Amino acid sequence: MAQEDIFKKLVAHCKEYGYVFQSSEIYDGLGAVYDYGQMGVELKNNIKKYWWDSMVLLHENVVGLDSAIFMHPTIWKASGHVDAFNDPLIDNKDSKKRYRADVLIEDQLAKYEEKMNKEVAKAAKRFGESFDEKQFRETNPRVLANQEKWNNLHTRFSNALNDNDLAELKQIIEDEGIVCPISGSRNWTDVRQFNLMFSTEMGSTAEGASKIFLRPETAQGIFVNYLNVQKTGRMKIPFGIAQIGKAFRNEIVARQFIFRMREFEQMEMQFFVRPGSELDWFEKWKETRMKWHRALGFGDENYRFHEHEKLAHYANAAVDVEYKFPFGFKEVEGIHSRTDFDLSQHEQYSGKKIRYYDPELGESYVPFVVETSIGVDRMFLQVISASYCEEQLEKDTRVVLKLPPVLAPVKLAVMPLVKKDGLPEKAREIIDELKFDFNCQYDEKDSIGKRYRRQDAIGTPFCVTVDHQSAEDNTVTIRYRDTMEQERVAIADLGKIIGEQVSYKKLFGKL
Ligand code: GAP
Repeated sequence: MAQEDIFKKLVAHCKEYGYVFQSSEIYDGLGAVYDYGQMGVELKNNIKKYWWDSMVLLHENVVGLDSAIFMHPTIWKASGHVDAFNDPLIDNKDSKKRYRADVLIEDQLAKYEEKMNKEVAKAAKRFGESFDEKQFRETNPRVLANQEKWNNLHTRFSNALNDNDLAELKQIIEDEGIVCPISGSRNWTDVRQFNLMFSTEMGSTAEGASKIFLRPETAQGIFVNYLNVQKTGRMKIPFGIAQIGKAFRNEIVARQFIFRMREFEQMEMQFFVRPGSELDWFEKWKETRMKWHRALGFGDENYRFHEHEKLAHYANAAVDVEYKFPFGFKEVEGIHSRTDFDLSQHEQYSGKKIRYYDPELGESYVPFVVETSIGVDRMFLQVISASYCEEQLEKDTRVVLKLPPVLAPVKLAVMPLVKKDGLPEKAREIIDELKFDFNCQYDEKDSIGKRYRRQDAIGTPFCVTVDHQSAEDNTVTIRYRDTMEQERVAIADLGKIIGEQVSYKKLFGKL
């Protein structure tokens, strides 16, 4: 099945099983805003716990924070967001559709890559085991021609971004013959900058109101609390502050479901270090974060680092962790060496000293910062994309979410084989015993087969069936989602069997 079709099915599946709903759906929806349903919220909470505990529990020098969404408007002036948090936009005059110029060019680069990959795949099929991909890429004329086009475009694009040259971005779009996907025309406006921050007013009367912004990143809440946390927590450099919270961006090109949203959640950690040591820490955090992703077992080959074409105004090094979504490798997390930019700016704009006295050096300085920043929603999409499977069985297909058990919203379903003979009561007893440790679901409707399918579809790793033998010897069958194998176990052992499989400790052991 084509990757696009898989993605469409996955989006439909998320709605059908209570994972993700379009916001305000009964009013025809609100673009790029989504609600998480009864399953979605559990998965999201589990992802957040995985991240939070891996930062705050596993690192004794990382502490948490929960800062407000509304902040003093000068913060966004100091951070550079008022002047520089822009996307380059272009409109197609025929379809009246608006696009991000950089995204149109990135899509063009991806087309060249796709052409090369197709040639390679065809040749690999033709030559079989003896195929040497490296040699093929270095000698095949069609691959070489596309590689040259890719290289030229990539260089022009990087230069245009670095120089903030909007006219050149438009020229590239014209020279590449990029057409509007809706109208098919090349009738483009000029490229112009568009600020992504949402604003609102604070104050009870229009005259007394002041314009404030909805934060476009949670990081600034950490920077402006640096002194509070450092002093009250008696933190010694190097140390980190972690935060999970909502962020808002008026994204112009909102697409790919929850990949790019206007209201989303971030998990950010700012690590404060001695000036000059930031690039070492940057490498350490790159490694730590990649391990965190890979520990979930979605396949190491599905992750890669991507160096930024253009460094943000605050960074001296930056890399993205990319995951292979059904629509290609895309950013899930950014790791940035933000220098002392933010703290210095806040020093200047607030007039307050934001320094650290380093007892080992005997001097004060503005700390440098390495940031790790991951979107909860993108991580959610990564987990769902990696877990969604359609399996051909002997008689039919089953749709199953092979979620890592530790992240699954429901850990076990308990099912009486029939709705009589005391089996429902026995099933309830089991739930009453286990519900303090695991999210359990009781299900007595329909045949056992149908109930298994329902639990497969929401990703429940264990189904426990209570039958007549259970009443006699206190045993049940446990069915494992991924293998569909069943075994008979003592009710008294259920907690241990399930507990081992859904343990965060076990997952943390891989970090
Ligand atoms: N504080 C740095 C920062 O915000 P970013 O690369 O703009 O950096 C970090 O964002 C992460 O936040 C991204 O890697 C992505 O996972 C998530 N993110 C950013 N914009 C998003 C959006 N519109 N919708 C969903 N997630 C988004």
